[in-house]
Amino acid sequence: MKKVEAIIRPETFRALREMLEDVGINGLTVSEVAGCGQQKGQQGLFRGNTFEIKLLPKVKVEMVVEDEFVDEIIHIIQDTCSTNTVGDGKIFIYPVENAIRIRTGESGKKAIV
Ligand SMILES: Nc1ncnc2c1ncn2[C@@H]1O[C@H](COP(=O)(O)OP(=O)(O)OP(=O)(O)O)[C@@H](O)[C@H]1O
Ligand SMILES: [Mg+2]
Repeated sequence: MKKVEAIIRPETFRALREMLEDVGINGLTVSEVAGCGQQKGQQGLFRGNTFEIKLLPKVKVEMVVEDEFVDEIIHIIQDTCSTNTVGDGKIFIYPVENAIRIRTGESGKKAIV
């Protein structure tokens, strides 16, 4: 199992949610976050003057899935969350040791469907 964590533009979340639903991904965790990347929160490309680091609002989407779904999810995120401009976000993939459904005690793959 892997955790796919995507940090995306808030305005792209709705489209991503719909696409994930279409391929049967139901379990996800969503948070409103703030962050910055290599432009240090500046919207656009700057040179010269120093400037303060700014934190921009982003949405973090986390989903734990079976390994074989990871590539498809990455493609969906790239298709729905890209505007081809700086600040489109990032995807991080983590290994997941286990998952347990609290109600039933099911674990592993059975717990993430
Ligand atoms: N190395 C990182 N670690 C953790 N979070 C990150 C990292 N890089 C980016 N993020 C998060 O992703 C958000 C979007 O980053 P962003 O898309 O601006 O990345 P970037 O590296 O600057 O790429 P780009 O040049 O396309 O903007 C940030 O606001 C931050 O929340
Ligand atoms: Mg950036």
